[in-house]
Amino acid sequence: MTVIGTGYLGATHAICMAILGFEVLGVDVDQRKIDALTAGIVPFFEPGLDEKLREALDSGRLQFTTNFDRAAAFGDVHFICVGTPQAPDSHAADLRYVESAFTELAKRIDRKALLVGKSTVPIGTAERVTGLVQEISPLGAELELAWNPEFLREGFAVEDTLHPDRLVFGVSSEWAERQLRAAFRPILDAKTPVVVSDLATAELVKVAANSFLATKISFINAMAEVCETTGADVNLLATALSFDSRIGGRFLKPGLGFGGGCLPKDIRAFAHRAEELGVGQAVAFLHEVDGINNRRRVRTVDLIRELAGGDLQGKRIAALGAAFKPNSDDVRDAPALDVARMLYLEGAVVTVYDPEANENAHRLYPDLNYANSMIAAVIDADVVALLTEWQEFTDIDPENLGKLVRHRRVVDGRHALDADDYVAKGWEYRALGRPVASRTISFVMDARDEVDA
Ligand code: UGA
Repeated sequence: MTVIGTGYLGATHAICMAILGFEVLGVDVDQRKIDALTAGIVPFFEPGLDEKLREALDSGRLQFTTNFDRAAAFGDVHFICVGTPQAPDSHAADLRYVESAFTELAKRIDRKALLVGKSTVPIGTAERVTGLVQEISPLGAELELAWNPEFLREGFAVEDTLHPDRLVFGVSSEWAERQLRAAFRPILDAKTPVVVSDLATAELVKVAANSFLATKISFINAMAEVCETTGADVNLLATALSFDSRIGGRFLKPGLGFGGGCLPKDIRAFAHRAEELGVGQAVAFLHEVDGINNRRRVRTVDLIRELAGGDLQGKRIAALGAAFKPNSDDVRDAPALDVARMLYLEGAVVTVYDPEANENAHRLYPDLNYANSMIAAVIDADVVALLTEWQEFTDIDPENLGKLVRHRRVVDGRHALDADDYVAKGWEYRALGRPVASRTISFVMDARDEVDA
């Protein structure tokens, strides 16, 4: 099989497929990525992937190339894993990489093969691209297309690829289904549920899943807004809700909200596509989901300003975290960096530290200060802002941290710190949707212990 596009999704897919025993050729137009991967270096941070890459290369089953002729000749099944970023001038998905990958391959393929899209695309893309590739391929209608959406999370990419919750095969023939079943045999043998559908349903599953997750996060963050004006505590609320098995606690963590290269642009592209299809009203709530999420960033800046005494001009702020979530170096639409940027624009002296994402963050916002350790970032800070919940930040003893800062003031943008411990050690602690000096978390933990027992 070939895997076209070696970003987070494609590189992980190529590596894992080789680990599972297939002969895999990874393809990209970026020579630097291909050189790095060939040399056994993963060009981004993803826990556990380096070892898997080396294991796959050592097996002799994984190779990389920039040569599409070679790819077309090599593969029986071709996975397209290129990016679909937000278009520069609208909320639509930019499909130029998808179209180019499919057509570059299709015009070179001269024996029966299956093209499988894994990228997240607007509904109707697979059908449209089928027409496109069949028109230009020497194989004509013999060249088939399927859609197999990907649900991996950054930070858990290997686990999610080797042990997914489910597989979705969008196909238009039994032959295509057989090819996909063969390509995922080891995963299906592990009793992974599989849903076989038409192409449009497969495309929709992916955007619906990400929309649901985004909605769940924005739901609890909307409740946080209500808490802020009523004196209620969103953490207790989320915990109480989580015990209802119909609701569940996952993706119900309040705070600074969602970011990254997927959730924000996927819900926007979905709403845009639905409007094009005349069903915009059905997903109009996604605009609200996006709005709630963006307000979290502004409100976090408000909290930091409040704690800094009402004016950010000249105040030293330690911004802990830049990545859109822990265990990632991805800063695309990262809430943490957005907050740091807004603080800077109000005149604060912002020092950012992220265990893995400093370099990517610096490339995006070169005007911010970057520290190469947590200690360097917090020295003499007027306010410490926890923006991405890396374990390094949540593990630190507030007493030790307190010795480094100018003022013991912390804004916990991720509800990740032990608030009682901070308050006990003389810190002013603030978090969105949590009343000042609320001391109820320990009761929650007691309740959870009983439930677990
Ligand atoms: C997301 C989906 O979870 C994957 O299933 C999907 O395959 C992927 O997008 C994609 O479309 O490729 P990912 O972007 O890696 O994965 O990140 P998530 O773990 O979903 O987190 C997204 C954001 O939500 C992060 O900024 C995180 O901090 C935030 N979040 C998550 C919350 O604010 N609260 C929560 O309770 C959970």
